[in-house]
Amino acid sequence: MFPKGKVILSGMQPSGALHLGNWLGALKNWVNLQQDNHCFFTIVDLHAITIPYEPKELPQRVLELAADFLAAGIDPEKSVLFVQSHVPEHVELAWLFNTITPLGELERMTQFKDKASEHREAQNAGLLNYPILMAADILLYHPDLVPVGEDQTQHVEFTRTLARKFNSTFGEYFTEPKVYEAQVPRVMSLLEPAKKMSKSYGPNHCIFLSDEPETIRKKIAKAVTDDGGTADGRISGGRNLLQLFKVLSDDKALKQQLDDQYRVGELKYSEFKPLLAEAIIKTLEPIRKKRQELLSKPKQVEKTLLSGRDSARVIAAKTLSDVKERMGLA
Ligand code: AMP
Ligand code: TRP
Repeated sequence: MFPKGKVILSGMQPSGALHLGNWLGALKNWVNLQQDNHCFFTIVDLHAITIPYEPKELPQRVLELAADFLAAGIDPEKSVLFVQSHVPEHVELAWLFNTITPLGELERMTQFKDKASEHREAQNAGLLNYPILMAADILLYHPDLVPVGEDQTQHVEFTRTLARKFNSTFGEYFTEPKVYEAQVPRVMSLLEPAKKMSKSYGPNHCIFLSDEPETIRKKIAKAVTDDGGTADGRISGGRNLLQLFKVLSDDKALKQQLDDQYRVGELKYSEFKPLLAEAIIKTLEPIRKKRQELLSKPKQVEKTLLSGRDSARVIAAKTLSDVKERMGLA
Protein backbone atom coordinates (compact mmCIF):
# COMPACT_ATOMS: atom_id res chain seq x y z
CA MET A 1 0.00 0.00 0.00
CA PHE A 2 2.87 2.37 0.78
CA PRO A 3 5.38 3.26 -1.94
CA LYS A 4 8.92 1.96 -1.51
CA GLY A 5 12.31 3.48 -2.12
CA LYS A 6 11.11 7.00 -2.93
CA VAL A 7 12.23 10.40 -1.75
CA ILE A 8 9.39 11.97 0.20
CA LEU A 9 9.00 15.46 1.60
CA SER A 10 6.26 17.09 3.62
CA GLY A 11 5.86 19.98 5.98
CA MET A 12 3.54 21.22 8.67
CA GLN A 13 3.07 24.66 10.16
CA PRO A 14 3.74 25.13 13.88
CA SER A 15 0.30 26.61 14.37
CA GLY A 16 -0.67 25.03 17.69
CA ALA A 17 -1.59 21.68 19.19
CA LEU A 18 -2.14 18.75 16.84
CA HIS A 19 -5.50 16.97 16.88
CA LEU A 20 -6.77 13.55 15.91
CA GLY A 21 -7.43 14.79 12.35
CA ASN A 22 -3.81 15.85 11.92
CA TRP A 23 -2.63 12.54 13.29
CA LEU A 24 -4.91 10.27 11.23
CA GLY A 25 -4.82 12.53 8.17
CA ALA A 26 -1.09 13.16 8.04
CA LEU A 27 1.31 12.16 10.77
CA LYS A 28 0.35 8.48 11.01
CA ASN A 29 1.00 8.09 7.30
CA TRP A 30 4.32 9.88 7.52
CA VAL A 31 5.38 7.41 10.18
CA ASN A 32 4.46 4.50 7.90
CA LEU A 33 6.14 6.07 4.87
CA GLN A 34 9.46 6.40 6.64
CA GLN A 35 9.87 2.60 6.90
CA ASP A 36 10.74 2.10 3.22
CA ASN A 37 11.47 5.57 1.90
CA HIS A 38 13.88 8.42 2.31
CA CYS A 39 11.78 11.04 4.08
CA PHE A 40 12.21 14.72 4.87
CA PHE A 41 9.79 16.34 7.30
CA THR A 42 9.98 20.04 7.97
CA ILE A 43 8.39 22.37 10.47
CA VAL A 44 7.56 25.39 8.36
CA ASP A 45 7.95 28.32 10.72
CA LEU A 46 8.53 30.78 7.88
CA HIS A 47 5.10 29.94 6.51
CA ALA A 48 3.52 30.34 9.95
CA ILE A 49 4.61 33.99 10.18
CA THR A 50 2.55 35.02 7.15
CA ILE A 51 -0.44 35.50 9.45
CA PRO A 52 -0.45 37.55 12.68
CA TYR A 53 1.39 35.69 15.48
CA GLU A 54 3.12 36.19 18.81
CA PRO A 55 6.94 36.09 18.34
CA LYS A 56 7.53 35.08 21.97
CA GLU A 57 5.38 31.98 21.51
CA LEU A 58 6.85 30.77 18.24
CA PRO A 59 9.89 28.87 19.60
CA GLN A 60 7.64 26.88 21.96
CA ARG A 61 5.22 26.09 19.12
CA VAL A 62 8.10 24.78 17.02
CA LEU A 63 9.39 22.68 19.92
CA GLU A 64 5.94 21.25 20.63
CA LEU A 65 5.37 20.30 17.01
CA ALA A 66 8.75 18.57 16.94
CA ALA A 67 7.76 16.71 20.13
CA ASP A 68 4.45 15.73 18.51
CA PHE A 69 6.26 14.34 15.46
CA LEU A 70 8.75 12.39 17.53
CA ALA A 71 6.11 11.14 19.96
CA ALA A 72 3.95 9.94 17.08
CA GLY A 73 6.86 7.88 15.77
CA ILE A 74 8.90 10.00 13.37
CA ASP A 75 12.31 8.42 13.83
CA PRO A 76 15.27 10.77 13.33
CA GLU A 77 17.43 7.75 12.50
CA LYS A 78 15.20 7.06 9.51
CA SER A 79 13.89 10.50 8.51
CA VAL A 80 15.34 13.97 8.31
CA LEU A 81 13.33 16.16 10.69
CA PHE A 82 14.21 19.85 10.59
CA VAL A 83 12.99 23.41 10.99
CA GLN A 84 12.58 25.36 7.75
CA SER A 85 14.20 28.57 9.02
CA HIS A 86 17.31 26.63 10.10
CA VAL A 87 18.08 25.98 6.45
CA PRO A 88 18.49 29.41 4.82
CA GLU A 89 18.66 27.85 1.35
CA HIS A 90 14.83 27.69 1.43
CA VAL A 91 14.57 31.47 1.45
CA GLU A 92 17.29 31.97 -1.11
CA LEU A 93 15.76 29.52 -3.56
CA ALA A 94 12.36 31.11 -2.95
CA TRP A 95 13.77 34.47 -4.07
CA LEU A 96 15.20 32.94 -7.22
CA PHE A 97 11.84 31.30 -7.93
CA ASN A 98 10.11 34.67 -7.39
CA THR A 99 11.77 35.85 -10.57
CA ILE A 100 10.20 33.12 -12.71
CA THR A 101 6.73 33.15 -11.15
CA PRO A 102 3.94 34.84 -13.07
CA LEU A 103 1.89 37.00 -10.66
CA GLY A 104 -1.35 35.61 -12.03
CA GLU A 105 -0.40 32.11 -10.87
CA LEU A 106 -0.15 33.35 -7.29
CA GLU A 107 -3.30 35.43 -7.33
CA ARG A 108 -5.45 32.49 -8.36
CA MET A 109 -4.39 30.24 -5.47
CA THR A 110 -7.41 29.29 -3.40
CA GLN A 111 -5.55 29.43 -0.09
CA PHE A 112 -4.31 32.95 -0.87
CA LYS A 113 -7.81 34.14 -1.66
CA ASP A 114 -9.16 32.56 1.54
CA LYS A 115 -6.42 33.81 3.82
CA ALA A 116 -6.30 37.27 2.28
CA SER A 117 -9.99 37.74 2.96
CA GLU A 118 -9.69 36.24 6.45
CA HIS A 119 -6.78 38.54 7.38
CA ARG A 120 -7.84 41.70 5.54
CA GLU A 121 -6.16 43.93 8.10
CA ALA A 122 -2.87 42.07 7.76
CA GLN A 123 -2.53 41.26 4.08
CA ASN A 124 1.15 40.97 3.28
CA ALA A 125 3.24 39.91 0.32
CA GLY A 126 4.29 36.78 2.23
CA LEU A 127 0.73 35.51 2.03
CA LEU A 128 0.79 35.91 -1.75
CA ASN A 129 4.28 34.45 -2.14
CA TYR A 130 3.60 31.54 0.24
CA PRO A 131 3.44 28.93 -2.57
CA ILE A 132 6.86 30.04 -3.89
CA LEU A 133 8.47 29.27 -0.55
CA MET A 134 6.61 25.96 -0.47
CA ALA A 135 7.92 25.15 -3.96
CA ALA A 136 11.44 25.89 -2.70
CA ASP A 137 10.87 23.66 0.38
CA ILE A 138 9.94 20.86 -1.96
CA LEU A 139 12.28 21.20 -4.93
CA LEU A 140 15.44 21.63 -2.81
CA TYR A 141 15.21 17.93 -1.89
CA HIS A 142 14.15 16.46 -5.28
CA PRO A 143 11.29 14.40 -3.83
CA ASP A 144 9.28 11.93 -5.90
CA LEU A 145 6.23 12.33 -3.69
CA VAL A 146 4.73 15.00 -1.48
CA PRO A 147 2.11 13.73 0.96
CA VAL A 148 -0.34 16.57 1.60
CA GLY A 149 -4.00 17.00 2.34
CA GLU A 150 -6.45 17.97 -0.37
CA ASP A 151 -6.20 21.68 0.46
CA GLN A 152 -2.50 21.70 -0.47
CA THR A 153 -2.64 19.87 -3.81
CA GLN A 154 -2.98 23.16 -5.70
CA HIS A 155 0.34 24.28 -4.20
CA VAL A 156 2.04 21.07 -5.32
CA GLU A 157 0.61 21.61 -8.81
CA PHE A 158 2.08 25.11 -8.66
CA THR A 159 5.43 23.57 -7.65
CA ARG A 160 5.32 21.33 -10.74
CA THR A 161 4.59 24.36 -12.91
CA LEU A 162 7.60 26.18 -11.44
CA ALA A 163 9.83 23.15 -11.98
CA ARG A 164 8.78 23.07 -15.65
CA LYS A 165 9.26 26.82 -16.00
CA PHE A 166 12.75 26.57 -14.51
CA ASN A 167 13.66 23.66 -16.76
CA SER A 168 12.43 25.36 -19.91
CA THR A 169 14.21 28.62 -19.06
CA PHE A 170 17.51 27.40 -17.62
CA GLY A 171 17.82 23.81 -18.80
CA GLU A 172 16.44 20.48 -17.63
CA TYR A 173 17.14 20.11 -13.90
CA PHE A 174 14.16 19.50 -11.61
CA THR A 175 11.92 16.47 -11.76
CA GLU A 176 8.26 17.21 -11.10
CA PRO A 177 7.14 15.81 -7.74
CA LYS A 178 3.72 14.22 -7.43
CA VAL A 179 1.13 14.53 -4.70
CA TYR A 180 0.96 11.39 -2.59
CA GLU A 181 -2.66 10.87 -1.73
CA ALA A 182 -2.96 8.45 1.12
CA GLN A 183 -6.41 7.05 1.78
CA VAL A 184 -6.97 9.10 4.88
CA PRO A 185 -10.12 9.51 6.86
CA ARG A 186 -11.50 13.00 7.01
CA VAL A 187 -12.08 13.46 10.70
CA MET A 188 -15.03 15.73 11.35
CA SER A 189 -15.63 18.21 14.18
CA LEU A 190 -17.12 16.71 17.34
CA LEU A 191 -19.64 19.50 17.73
CA GLU A 192 -20.36 20.43 14.10
CA PRO A 193 -19.82 17.20 12.18
CA ALA A 194 -20.55 18.86 8.85
CA LYS A 195 -17.16 20.59 9.17
CA LYS A 196 -13.65 19.15 9.30
CA MET A 197 -12.10 18.79 12.75
CA SER A 198 -10.09 21.99 13.13
CA LYS A 199 -8.81 23.85 16.13
CA SER A 200 -10.01 27.12 14.64
CA TYR A 201 -13.59 26.24 15.70
CA GLY A 202 -12.53 25.86 19.36
CA PRO A 203 -10.99 23.16 21.59
CA ASN A 204 -14.21 21.22 22.14
CA HIS A 205 -14.46 20.48 18.44
CA CYS A 206 -11.18 18.51 18.57
CA ILE A 207 -9.38 15.78 20.44
CA PHE A 208 -5.81 16.99 20.87
CA LEU A 209 -2.87 14.58 21.03
CA SER A 210 -2.09 16.22 24.38
CA ASP A 211 -5.60 15.79 25.88
CA GLU A 212 -5.76 13.99 29.24
CA PRO A 213 -7.99 10.86 29.38
CA GLU A 214 -10.63 12.69 31.41
CA THR A 215 -10.78 15.49 28.85
CA ILE A 216 -11.20 12.94 26.06
CA ARG A 217 -14.08 11.24 27.93
CA LYS A 218 -15.82 14.59 28.43
CA LYS A 219 -15.37 15.71 24.83
CA ILE A 220 -16.70 12.44 23.43
CA ALA A 221 -19.63 12.50 25.85
CA LYS A 222 -20.57 15.93 24.48
CA ALA A 223 -20.01 15.04 20.82
CA VAL A 224 -23.00 15.64 18.56
CA THR A 225 -24.31 12.35 17.17
CA ASP A 226 -26.97 13.59 14.85
CA ASP A 227 -27.11 16.85 13.00
CA GLY A 228 -29.37 15.65 10.26
CA GLY A 229 -26.31 16.42 8.16
CA THR A 230 -26.50 13.53 5.76
CA ALA A 231 -27.66 15.91 3.02
CA ASP A 232 -25.09 16.62 0.25
CA GLY A 233 -23.40 13.31 1.07
CA ARG A 234 -22.16 14.72 4.36
CA ILE A 235 -21.72 12.33 7.20
CA SER A 236 -23.65 12.59 10.42
CA GLY A 237 -22.00 13.02 13.79
CA GLY A 238 -22.79 9.42 14.65
CA ARG A 239 -21.17 8.14 11.46
CA ASN A 240 -18.08 10.26 12.16
CA LEU A 241 -17.72 8.73 15.62
CA LEU A 242 -18.25 5.25 14.28
CA GLN A 243 -15.60 5.79 11.61
CA LEU A 244 -13.17 6.92 14.27
CA PHE A 245 -13.86 3.77 16.24
CA LYS A 246 -13.27 1.69 13.13
CA VAL A 247 -9.81 3.15 12.55
CA LEU A 248 -8.79 3.03 16.18
CA SER A 249 -10.03 -0.35 17.43
CA ASP A 250 -8.86 -3.81 16.30
CA ASP A 251 -11.93 -5.57 17.63
CA LYS A 252 -13.44 -6.70 14.31
CA ALA A 253 -16.49 -8.39 15.80
CA LEU A 254 -17.38 -5.36 17.89
CA LYS A 255 -16.92 -3.04 14.93
CA GLN A 256 -19.27 -5.15 12.84
CA GLN A 257 -21.82 -5.27 15.64
CA LEU A 258 -21.76 -1.48 16.12
CA ASP A 259 -21.99 -0.92 12.39
CA ASP A 260 -25.05 -3.16 12.15
CA GLN A 261 -26.67 -1.35 15.06
CA TYR A 262 -25.94 2.01 13.45
CA ARG A 263 -27.46 0.94 10.13
CA VAL A 264 -30.73 -0.10 11.68
CA GLY A 265 -30.77 2.99 13.91
CA GLU A 266 -30.24 1.05 17.12
CA LEU A 267 -26.81 2.21 18.14
CA LYS A 268 -26.95 3.21 21.80
CA TYR A 269 -24.67 6.19 22.14
CA SER A 270 -24.66 5.97 25.92
CA GLU A 271 -22.90 2.62 25.50
CA PHE A 272 -20.91 3.34 22.37
CA LYS A 273 -19.39 6.68 23.41
CA PRO A 274 -17.45 5.29 26.41
CA LEU A 275 -16.07 2.53 24.15
CA LEU A 276 -14.92 5.12 21.66
CA ALA A 277 -13.41 7.32 24.37
CA GLU A 278 -11.40 4.36 25.70
CA ALA A 279 -10.23 3.41 22.19
CA ILE A 280 -9.01 6.98 21.64
CA ILE A 281 -7.32 7.08 25.05
CA LYS A 282 -5.61 3.75 24.43
CA THR A 283 -4.29 4.96 21.06
CA LEU A 284 -3.20 8.40 22.19
CA GLU A 285 -1.88 7.56 25.64
CA PRO A 286 1.59 6.39 24.51
CA ILE A 287 1.89 9.44 22.25
CA ARG A 288 0.86 11.81 25.03
CA LYS A 289 3.27 10.26 27.52
CA LYS A 290 6.16 10.29 25.06
CA ARG A 291 5.33 13.90 24.19
CA GLN A 292 5.45 14.93 27.85
CA GLU A 293 8.72 13.10 28.32
CA LEU A 294 10.24 14.83 25.28
CA LEU A 295 9.02 18.25 26.39
CA SER A 296 10.67 17.72 29.75
CA LYS A 297 13.96 17.36 27.86
CA PRO A 298 13.73 20.19 25.32
CA LYS A 299 17.50 20.22 24.78
CA GLN A 300 17.35 16.72 23.38
CA VAL A 301 14.57 17.68 20.94
CA GLU A 302 16.55 20.75 19.90
CA LYS A 303 19.59 18.58 19.31
CA THR A 304 17.57 16.29 17.06
CA LEU A 305 16.39 19.30 15.06
CA LEU A 306 19.94 20.59 14.66
CA SER A 307 21.16 17.26 13.45
CA GLY A 308 18.24 17.20 10.97
CA ARG A 309 19.25 20.68 9.85
CA ASP A 310 22.80 19.48 9.14
CA SER A 311 21.56 16.58 7.01
CA ALA A 312 19.06 18.78 5.17
CA ARG A 313 21.61 21.51 4.48
CA VAL A 314 23.99 19.22 2.64
CA ILE A 315 21.30 18.48 0.06
CA ALA A 316 19.77 21.95 0.02
CA ALA A 317 23.16 23.62 -0.51
CA LYS A 318 23.95 21.37 -3.48
CA THR A 319 20.59 22.11 -5.14
CA LEU A 320 20.93 25.83 -4.57
CA SER A 321 24.43 25.88 -5.99
CA ASP A 322 23.27 23.95 -9.09
CA VAL A 323 20.38 26.39 -9.53
CA LYS A 324 22.58 29.47 -9.16
CA GLU A 325 25.04 28.12 -11.65
CA ARG A 326 22.26 27.58 -14.19
CA MET A 327 20.92 31.07 -13.53
CA GLY A 328 24.31 32.66 -14.11
CA LEU A 329 24.85 33.52 -10.45
CA ALA A 330 27.66 31.16 -9.57
P1 AMP B 1 -3.44 21.84 9.09
O1 AMP B 1 -3.04 21.94 10.50
O2 AMP B 1 -4.89 22.09 8.82
O3 AMP B 1 -2.52 22.59 8.16
O4 AMP B 1 -3.25 20.30 8.68
C1 AMP B 1 -2.05 19.60 8.75
C2 AMP B 1 -2.26 18.23 8.12
O5 AMP B 1 -3.30 17.50 8.79
C3 AMP B 1 -2.68 18.28 6.65
O6 AMP B 1 -2.01 17.26 5.93
C4 AMP B 1 -4.17 18.05 6.67
O7 AMP B 1 -4.62 17.43 5.50
C5 AMP B 1 -4.35 17.12 7.87
N1 AMP B 1 -5.66 17.38 8.52
C6 AMP B 1 -6.02 18.52 9.17
N2 AMP B 1 -7.27 18.42 9.66
C7 AMP B 1 -7.73 17.18 9.30
C8 AMP B 1 -8.97 16.46 9.52
N3 AMP B 1 -9.97 17.00 10.21
N4 AMP B 1 -9.08 15.22 8.99
C9 AMP B 1 -8.05 14.67 8.32
N5 AMP B 1 -6.88 15.27 8.08
C10 AMP B 1 -6.70 16.51 8.56
N1 TRP C 1 1.53 24.77 3.14
C1 TRP C 1 1.48 23.54 3.88
C2 TRP C 1 0.27 23.55 4.82
O1 TRP C 1 -0.21 24.60 5.18
C3 TRP C 1 2.73 23.34 4.72
C4 TRP C 1 3.96 23.22 3.87
C5 TRP C 1 4.93 24.15 3.68
C6 TRP C 1 4.32 22.08 3.10
N2 TRP C 1 5.91 23.67 2.88
C7 TRP C 1 5.58 22.42 2.49
C8 TRP C 1 3.72 20.84 2.88
C9 TRP C 1 6.22 21.51 1.65
C10 TRP C 1 4.38 19.94 2.04
C11 TRP C 1 5.61 20.29 1.42
O2 TRP C 1 -0.17 22.48 5.24
